[in-house]
Amino acid sequence: MKNILIIGATGQIGSELTMKLRSLYPNGNVVAGYIAGAEPKGALLESGPAHIVDITNPLQIAEAVDKYQVDTIYNLAALLSAVAEAKPQLAWKIGVGGLYNTLEVAREKGCAVFTPSSIGSFGPSTPHVKTPQDTVQRPETIYGVTKVTGELLSDYYWNRFGVDTRSVRFPGLISYVAPPGGGTTDYAVDIYYSAVKGEEFKCPLKPGTFMDMMYMPDALRAAVEIMEADPARLRHRNSFNIASMSFDPEIIAAKIKEYVPGFKMSYELDPLRQGIADSWPDSLDDSCAREEWDWKPEFDLDAMTTDMLLNLRKKFGIQQPVVAEQA
Ligand code: SER
Repeated sequence: MKNILIIGATGQIGSELTMKLRSLYPNGNVVAGYIAGAEPKGALLESGPAHIVDITNPLQIAEAVDKYQVDTIYNLAALLSAVAEAKPQLAWKIGVGGLYNTLEVAREKGCAVFTPSSIGSFGPSTPHVKTPQDTVQRPETIYGVTKVTGELLSDYYWNRFGVDTRSVRFPGLISYVAPPGGGTTDYAVDIYYSAVKGEEFKCPLKPGTFMDMMYMPDALRAAVEIMEADPARLRHRNSFNIASMSFDPEIIAAKIKEYVPGFKMSYELDPLRQGIADSWPDSLDDSCAREEWDWKPEFDLDAMTTDMLLNLRKKFGIQQPVVAEQA
């Protein structure tokens, strides 16, 4: 991996992954692909090349790949689960049509491709606790349907054409940098924003709703490590379960209270998100990723919480060291 195109570079994952890849591959081109209306700004714009790449337009993908001699594409374009239910046709166009365009360019020009899958690729008939790597995948959301299709299509391009496709199934991703938009796991980000702003958090999911979550630095490392993994060791490709923590709203709220004693949460349920969350696993078994490419998370709920609170306080200029509140 030397010259890399990130499609969706200004989104929730892309804005951080692009910066990480630029620091890891300083001698290559790490190209921020963006769509009109979501142009890169600040450090993202200044630290490397950018190119307009609408994933629904194969010519734009090919143009960026040619211009920067791209050998690896990170395809991060997607609508998250709740917003995808409002726009299922667009979710398919981006998630499946866009992936097809990317894979075709990769086939013609010899690029490797990373496309994230998700806990959303599972459904109600999947075993929910310690969900195995290889199991039933019958999701009931359009988001999940696009993710399962993406896993199959990516494996097909590997088996049929030798396109080096690899992927991980991301849990809900938590970060203080770019907010998610329209996901089912977003509450686990929003709760920290409310805590640092001193606001009561209205939780859209009921107590007992367990889902896998991951702190963004671990997710970024997974995206890099899977693409750097020794292909001879990979028995799976699209897509690996990865996991670091599983909690419900009560557990994360209690953890935040340890550091923000005045924090308050009440419930205001969102039936759409609750239905989606109930259909997803409570926790994934990531032993295949551990065996095949040495995956290992670094952040647990406690480490993530202290880091989130610290950095959100910095972001909003709030002068309260996290540790002082523990007393
Ligand atoms: N974070 C995603 C969502 O909630 C799941 O991968 O839609």
